Amino acid sequence: MFMSLDTTPFPSPASRFLSDVVDGLTREQKRLPCKYLYDDRGSQLFNAICELPEYYPTRTELALTERFAPEVAQRIGESANLIELGAGSGLKTRTLLTHLEDPAAYIPVDISSHELSRCVRAISSQFPELTVKPVVADYTGDWSLPRLARSARSLFYFPGSTIGNFEPDAARGFLAQKAALAGSDGALLIGVDLKKDPAILEAAYNDRAGITAEFNLNLLRRINRELNADFALHDFRHQAIYNADAGRIEMHLISERDQQIALPGRTIEFTRGESIITEHSYKYAIEEFASLAEDANWRTRSFWVDPDGLFSLWYLETSEIH
Ligand code: AVI
Repeated sequence: MFMSLDTTPFPSPASRFLSDVVDGLTREQKRLPCKYLYDDRGSQLFNAICELPEYYPTRTELALTERFAPEVAQRIGESANLIELGAGSGLKTRTLLTHLEDPAAYIPVDISSHELSRCVRAISSQFPELTVKPVVADYTGDWSLPRLARSARSLFYFPGSTIGNFEPDAARGFLAQKAALAGSDGALLIGVDLKKDPAILEAAYNDRAGITAEFNLNLLRRINRELNADFALHDFRHQAIYNADAGRIEMHLISERDQQIALPGRTIEFTRGESIITEHSYKYAIEEFASLAEDANWRTRSFWVDPDGLFSLWYLETSEIH
């Protein structure tokens, strides 16, 4: 019998970051993956964005959750597992947990063990009786559910319209993967930001206090610190633009002048006005998201929209039986 041992080392997070940055900055339209916006400072800035008067998604989704959590609880039934994609602990998760009837377990899934410990502490202090089983994993990749104490239905929870940060094909694949994990009686509660007047969208991503600009520019600060680059932050400016054809907000960092940036082993040229796209945030019409979910093996059972038509919350199930 022959055995082979693959000794190829896994790329370290730093070398992966460097290769993603070099790959993104050597494209015709420069791009950086939005996941890198979230170092510690980026995560704090994102929390501040959620409180901004212009950034309507967080408070609108919270109001929908407060209003319709009892209906979600009734649909999923007692003793369900709540599986949150991303380490929650905010008001939306607490609201949901307060309404669920005798949940079997709360399972937050996050790549950051630091975020998970924070989440476990916060949830356990408010719900001391609840079984909490954190999973350290990249929830966009392959992972499996922990062995669960009671056989129970799984309610996946993906709030915040984070699905909008996936390209539509990737969103479909991601949701289909979750449908497979959830099994034939699984459910998904997901928040989805809606298409609307571009002025409202652009204001939400170009806030007057400049927090979103800080959040965006912080990515260059992170690249300088972790990859030893020499971006001068004042030579770039943030601008978010609604691309109506593609149905998405694009966050740009625009070079204020012709310049060269040194990265390890590379020089990147910028012309004045050239931009780096750091994030896509897709917005959906109701029928667009319904058909995306359907293609990903989810059936729409209910969806709720706030009175101003800004945001939607969806309760989906994997099978026709319920
Ligand atoms: C996390 N995600 C859903 C946010 C969004 O609205 O796309 C990230 C964000 N970017 C700028 N503001 C908020």
